[in-house]
Amino acid sequence: MEYETPLFFHVMGYAAEADRDVIDMVSGNPDWEPPEALRDGLHEYADLESEYFQYPPSEGLRSLREEIATRRGVGLEQVVVTNGAGEANYLAMARALERDAGSEVILTDPVYSYYPGKTTMLGGEPRYVEAAEDGQLEPSAVREAASEETAAIVVNTPNNPTGAVYPESTVRELVAIAEENDAILVADEVYDHYDLSGTFSSALGVASDHRIITNAFSKSLAITGFRVGYAIFPLHLVDDAKSRHMLVNVAGSAPAQYAVLQALRETGPEYYEANRELLRERVDTFTAALEAAGAEYTRPDGAFYVLARFEGYPGTLANVERLIDEAGVAGMPGEAFGTAREDWLRFALVTPRLEEAADRLAEYFG
Ligand SMILES: Cc1ncc(COP(=O)(O)O)c(C=O)c1O
Repeated sequence: MEYETPLFFHVMGYAAEADRDVIDMVSGNPDWEPPEALRDGLHEYADLESEYFQYPPSEGLRSLREEIATRRGVGLEQVVVTNGAGEANYLAMARALERDAGSEVILTDPVYSYYPGKTTMLGGEPRYVEAAEDGQLEPSAVREAASEETAAIVVNTPNNPTGAVYPESTVRELVAIAEENDAILVADEVYDHYDLSGTFSSALGVASDHRIITNAFSKSLAITGFRVGYAIFPLHLVDDAKSRHMLVNVAGSAPAQYAVLQALRETGPEYYEANRELLRERVDTFTAALEAAGAEYTRPDGAFYVLARFEGYPGTLANVERLIDEAGVAGMPGEAFGTAREDWLRFALVTPRLEEAADRLAEYFG
């Protein structure tokens, strides 16, 4: 098998080794602080008796699963704590594909770069539905692509890289299409706390045995290095997902889960609102600079990425490397996200040096 490895680590490595100062806008690593309570939880864990340093329950600390189940209004049995949203997506897609109900996985184009490789690694075949210019997904186009061959429909809202947030009507239709085709809708909602538009609608709001919700604390608590996420399965799919999780990982990290639980219990809504406000300001600053530089760009309704297109400078890997070397700004090539935005570059708004980055781009392309 040929594994399809996403380009993120390559570009991050290239930027780190560059012979000059580079502003890193490559990956979705938040540069804002986690909640205070998260650090407190970690400190507290260090002083616990050594029995706490042994295997936690495979499906996750019960107290964390209870907290998630209560917050999301689902049964405890449906919740599996995973190694980030990455593993949650893997478990969900594996479960959808192993039902002998088709081998196609409907993905959007642009696509989050890890979905295609995960699909083929699991023996599935990607089938792409192009998103509209504004990043929205037309349910009728998904319906047209869906058939009895469809095992899963994998979507992400708020969306990386387009910034689109799907309205409730789209989410409802996607669940219906999954049901009509005996497929599973996998709704990756890892950016749910970064809905800048107030229009986010979780697939959990549509009761169905045909949808799996994936999520993580990586972005919402600014801890991509902790690796704590979760998936919410319908009851008839959850047992085998727990077994796969156990066979692959044995269990997740106990200290990370403990600290996340502490943070969830003690962090109020103002933490999340402050982060959204920071992002709104960054979107304004960065898009204003792109406008001044004469670039085409997207204005995200959610998540923390901006796509930009510069005349005569297609978003290839070679051009991304050139931009690192010659302008000192590192982004991701549009070609990493399917074919629909190949000409574009993606910039993650995760640096306090945003204005400087925008100035560098304006100067380079001006
Ligand atoms: C759409 C999407 N899903 C999943 C992930 C991975 O999340 P985690 O770090 O929790 O595995 C990311 C990370 O950037 C993402 O953008």
